[in-house]
Amino acid sequence: MRKPLLGLVVFSFLLTGTPSARAEQQIVLKFSHVTTADTPKGRAAEFFKMRAEGLTKGRVKVEVYPNSQLFKDAEEFDALAKGQVQMLAPTLGKVSSLGFREFEIFDIPYLFPTKASLQRVQDGPIGKGLLKRLESKGFLGIAYWDNGFKIMSANRPLLAPADMRGLKVRIQNSKMVEMQMRALGAVPQVLALNEAFQALQSGTLDGTENPPSNMYTQKMYEVQKYAVDTNHGYLGYAVVTNKKFWDELPADVRTLLEQALRDATRYANAISQQDNDDALAVIERSGKTRVAHLSDTQRKAWRQALAPVQKEAEARVGPDLIKAINKEVAILGGG
Ligand code: LMR
Repeated sequence: MRKPLLGLVVFSFLLTGTPSARAEQQIVLKFSHVTTADTPKGRAAEFFKMRAEGLTKGRVKVEVYPNSQLFKDAEEFDALAKGQVQMLAPTLGKVSSLGFREFEIFDIPYLFPTKASLQRVQDGPIGKGLLKRLESKGFLGIAYWDNGFKIMSANRPLLAPADMRGLKVRIQNSKMVEMQMRALGAVPQVLALNEAFQALQSGTLDGTENPPSNMYTQKMYEVQKYAVDTNHGYLGYAVVTNKKFWDELPADVRTLLEQALRDATRYANAISQQDNDDALAVIERSGKTRVAHLSDTQRKAWRQALAPVQKEAEARVGPDLIKAINKEVAILGGG
């Protein structure tokens, strides 16, 4: 090596502490969520981590914090705004707490008869418009991740809607879910997901609702003797990031993260139904929870009992939005 070049290398080393240009600062992306790792959302977050770190060749490090390890529901939007985390995947109904009541449409009982109708709305102008609204809060809604339809559970047999009457039930932070439970004569109490088991085990609360994957991974089935496959409401997620963080990423890194997110979204929506079917099967095999499977006639009684909630919802999300959704659903022949 000719002397002058050697001098340049030595000078560069002294200047940057590395034999080449300063090593680019690794970007750390903290992803906080409230379910366990072994759920559709938890697995999709890990998939995103794997893809993001692979595609960026380590320029981005994703740290996933499941099961409210870092922040609970009530804290996570504030943490995202402050840059303490860079990605969340809150349940759609919880996004309403930011002042966007329209996100509660996903909690309206029996509004979406099938996942196809739900995804048609999410992928269309209504769904895109909802995510766009988050920008006014400094957030970017960058994907919808699926989980599934919810079942009801309690420590007394559940078959008809009247069986819910008087039950003290744990619910997530959603006004629409609260209205749903009150329509059934139950008494709703908002509680963090990872506190539900304790409340049900101690008998402070009698029952709850969630997709089977959450019922299983939060071990709620161990303290709920009965369940019923009402499939009355939907539970899915909005993947949200901090707009400033995302906009300030190097353009090539952002493009790679967008690819990683697309792949993780495809993965999430591909595994979710099987995850929930498997969770329900394990719950039934455990013998700890007896799951009632409704006939069409029996499920019709739940639809009728919960129909008033859709009417009440108009005051919260607007009649036009519900009408537009029903129109989309009808196109697919659902409902
Ligand atoms: C719940 O709080 O029951 C769910 O919204 C949790 C989740 O993120 O699936």
